[in-house]
Amino acid sequence: MQKQFPMKEYLLFCGTVWVSDTCCFPFSLGGVKKFLESEISVYVKSIEIGNSITEDFKSGYLIHPNHQVKMVCEDLSTDAHLKNGFNAIGFSQGSQFLRALVQRCPTLRIHNLITLGGQHQGVFGLPNCPSLSSRTCERFRQLLNYAAYTDLLQNFLVQATYWHDPLNESKYKTSSTFLADINNEQTINKSYVENLQRLNKFVMVQFNNDSIVQPVQSQWFGYYKPGQDKETQRLKESSIYIEDRLGLKKMDEQNKLVFLECEGNHLQFTKDWFRKNLFSYLT
Ligand SMILES: *[C@@H]1O[C@H](CO)[C@@H](O)[C@H](O)[C@H]1NC(C)=O
Ligand SMILES: *[C@@H]1O[C@H](CO)[C@@H](O)[C@H](O)[C@H]1NC(C)=O
Ligand SMILES: *[C@@H]1O[C@H](CO)[C@@H](O)[C@H](O)[C@H]1NC(C)=O
Repeated sequence: MQKQFPMKEYLLFCGTVWVSDTCCFPFSLGGVKKFLESEISVYVKSIEIGNSITEDFKSGYLIHPNHQVKMVCEDLSTDAHLKNGFNAIGFSQGSQFLRALVQRCPTLRIHNLITLGGQHQGVFGLPNCPSLSSRTCERFRQLLNYAAYTDLLQNFLVQATYWHDPLNESKYKTSSTFLADINNEQTINKSYVENLQRLNKFVMVQFNNDSIVQPVQSQWFGYYKPGQDKETQRLKESSIYIEDRLGLKKMDEQNKLVFLECEGNHLQFTKDWFRKNLFSYLT
């Protein structure tokens, strides 16, 4: 028996599918939207924030996430459908984007935030290029690491705004124009803490065999231990949690954080998995 849900539940969708030209995942935002609309009769509003590095360049889709969060905030704040609150689902880059929206746009009432395959602590690696087993990938990663924090890339390549160099944490903290800010790395913005705290649940889904998000643990807000790029640490072991810079520790103590895992690669979930694990957060 499928669980019954009230009509007119509202859902906000946001995502990108970060694929390279050589690989195509069957995942599509449109497909998931249809699936949810038919199964739980929700009103789904979706925002797309670019498709991939190559697509971003081709389409001129180079809007800085700070600017885009502001635009989406203004736009959604006037949407009457969303007035009584809604749940939000972020896919891939949409994950940290929607978290930024929660933190910076308190006029919206977001009940549950669900992120799938997010990069909450950023990435240090290239899609489908395993740094640990391929020397070419590792060299390329080192190279990109020099360029990611230049003004040019911070302004024009969305992915650079959540590039997180674990070898030089202080450089990341001072130069990342998006992620380091929403993660309260440099200073603590109290309104970010308060706004995130208003969520009922913050659900993070990690794909255990993800070849796009490196390290995989970033999906659960973990990352490499500072100063190196081999060993990882969980959220609970990291300073953002220990110092409670973003209120995540407090949220955890209130059982607001939910960590779910899914076998397989980036965004490779089945409808059945989605039903069993996420439907209960969409009511
Ligand atoms: C906190 O973030 C909000 C939204 O980005 C910003 O308007 C505000 O100035 C920030 N406050 C501090 C103290 O930096
Ligand atoms: C980290 O980056 C900063 C700023 O770019 C630089 O001054 C410092 O020397 C770097 N530290 C290391 C260990 O590379
Ligand atoms: C994980 O990925 C590797 C390499 O792509 C593949 O060989 C393996 O079968 C995958 N495992 C699962 C459980 O999907």
